[in-house]
Amino acid sequence: MKIKIKYSNKLKFPDSFMNRIIIGDCIEVMKKMPDSSIDLVVTSPPYNLKNSSGNGMKNGRGGKWANAALMKGYSDHDDCMPHEEYVEWQRNCLTEMFRVLREDGAIFYNHKWRVQRALLQDRADIVAGFPVRQIIVWRRKGGINFNPGYFLPTYEVIYMITKPKFKLSKGANSHGDVWEFGQESNNPHPAPFPKVLIDRIISSTCAQTILDPFMGSGTTALSAKSFKRDFIGIELSEQYCDLAVSRLKGEVIHLGNHGKIKQETLFK
Ligand SMILES: C[S@@+](CC[C@H](N)C(=O)[O-])C[C@H]1O[C@@H](n2cnc3c(N)ncnc32)[C@H](O)[C@@H]1O
Repeated sequence: MKIKIKYSNKLKFPDSFMNRIIIGDCIEVMKKMPDSSIDLVVTSPPYNLKNSSGNGMKNGRGGKWANAALMKGYSDHDDCMPHEEYVEWQRNCLTEMFRVLREDGAIFYNHKWRVQRALLQDRADIVAGFPVRQIIVWRRKGGINFNPGYFLPTYEVIYMITKPKFKLSKGANSHGDVWEFGQESNNPHPAPFPKVLIDRIISSTCAQTILDPFMGSGTTALSAKSFKRDFIGIELSEQYCDLAVSRLKGEVIHLGNHGKIKQETLFK
């Protein structure tokens, strides 16, 4: 069965969606999915980092972000929307994710807090009105900001947005709400999840069908597969879909600075 499939109006749920990565816009694709059809959503949207008030990611000038992989945005998304537009877009995405979720389902929505023009952007404007049950802190060990005026940023957050009947799997609550996992390295995608982080989320639930509407390099699919769960991925960039398919097939991945490295050694 083909893993990668282009979005078209002819796609039928569930057969065209299950264990596939659909190339397309996530809202358009999710609109083709029925209400209450998914057990779990695990996702990390673009953070809109290039819309920054600092001199870093903005306009690709570099500064403190000169070495950051995201300097150029994503292959098919520039990550630079006006803030209000970005918030509205993310709220529309969350609305679709919530609609397709079953009554015992949850959304694990990864984001990053930041300060812009001396004001905290804690993403409350995005999640307002959605039933956030808990916030998990992902302590990443390191960051990419080496500006001498700031301490190195080392954390992100994961909003656990739940439907009323959601429960963790037995014993998972003992993990606590601060999780320490280093960032992914040796992945050509500019902002990948570390697989261990998604393993923690998926193994903490009994979900069988898992959706990632911003699938990127396919980490959620890879994790779902290793726990014998089903995945549905959506990704705008065909280039990242190809990367995800290679990872799922365990193929050799070509990395700019690292030469050829086998998937097994990269993502253990
Ligand atoms: C933070 S990355 C996700 C990385 C992913 N978690 C991984 O492990 O590789 C966000 C992704 O959203 C994708 N994206 C941006 N706009 C999109 C849209 N409208 N629909 C679907 N995907 C989109 C980008 O191409 C990018 O790969």
